[in-house]
Amino acid sequence: MKTFVSIILFLFLGLSCVNRIEHTPEKLDRKADQYSIRIAVGSCNKVDEPNVFWDDIAEQSPEAFVWLGDIVYADSNDISVIQSEYNKLKEITNYTRLTEQMQIFGIWDDHDYGKNDGGQEFEIKVESQQALLDFLDVSKEDQRRTQEGIYTSHLLQNNYGTVELLMLDTRYFRSSLTPDTENGRRYKSNTDTTTTLLGNAQWQWLEKKIENSQANFLVIVSSIQLLSNQHQFEKWENLPHEREKMITLIKCFADKNIFVVSGDRHISEFSMMPIGEDRQLIDFTSSGLTHSYSSFSGEPNPYRVKEVVSDPSYGIIDFNLKNNTVQAYMMGDKKQIQQELEVSY
Ligand SMILES: [Fe+2]
Repeated sequence: MKTFVSIILFLFLGLSCVNRIEHTPEKLDRKADQYSIRIAVGSCNKVDEPNVFWDDIAEQSPEAFVWLGDIVYADSNDISVIQSEYNKLKEITNYTRLTEQMQIFGIWDDHDYGKNDGGQEFEIKVESQQALLDFLDVSKEDQRRTQEGIYTSHLLQNNYGTVELLMLDTRYFRSSLTPDTENGRRYKSNTDTTTTLLGNAQWQWLEKKIENSQANFLVIVSSIQLLSNQHQFEKWENLPHEREKMITLIKCFADKNIFVVSGDRHISEFSMMPIGEDRQLIDFTSSGLTHSYSSFSGEPNPYRVKEVVSDPSYGIIDFNLKNNTVQAYMMGDKKQIQQELEVSY
């Protein structure tokens, strides 16, 4: 009898579990929310490893999917290798379906750029830029086809307002990083203020964009983390004057609702920095579409809120234009919410 009860219980719990994870959680049901503009985000995608998220993302009907970098792992100064990795991705049926259902935007990080932790010195960055734009189906007339660097902006709109994406290029202009050999760590901060992350032209473009934007929300899309500043890997803090400049710029526009997204780390986390009275800056790091830092055992981040998610993950972000709130979700397979954060502006 006991065994029978256990089996029934197992079957019941097992089935209810399956039902729960296949069903879209109520709060993610788009039909219940006419006021939000939704984007999905993700980074770090190896084409030879399965991406189990494409069908889930499609079902959640975001207005756009936004690549946060490491779209492929090409790591080559041979342009045909980079192109062939992008082509492989374009042949994956579930990804192709996504591109037919929603807009696709993207920036690069180092592995799709072509050089691990690479910057302005990368010898085929001009060719690599065209390969990325080809992958993203960017028209031949687009500004990015002739400018240096892949930075651009995109406007998303519904009946209640707009969300503007400010897509940064953290590679093309970036000065060399400084290895921290004495401490056996990857990088240390380089305080030489002649070094740059975005370069002059991109900084000027960004300042104008923020100043002139009429959007209800501005999303700064950076491949690397802006706020987390104590780990040894790539981050804005490796060029601390550039991080300071970005935070100061955001602080200056107290009337703008600014939200940052980043990738790169193979972990996902929310970082939050107070930037004024009742004003918080969020950096939502969403990383590992196909692979994650599963052996992650902790690292300091004074700005972290909640926990680190070290399972594969993508992000869903709802910008509510009626309530002026942002709902950000770290998402696992079968629409499982790993962690969520609500931010009021
Ligand atoms: Fe990566």
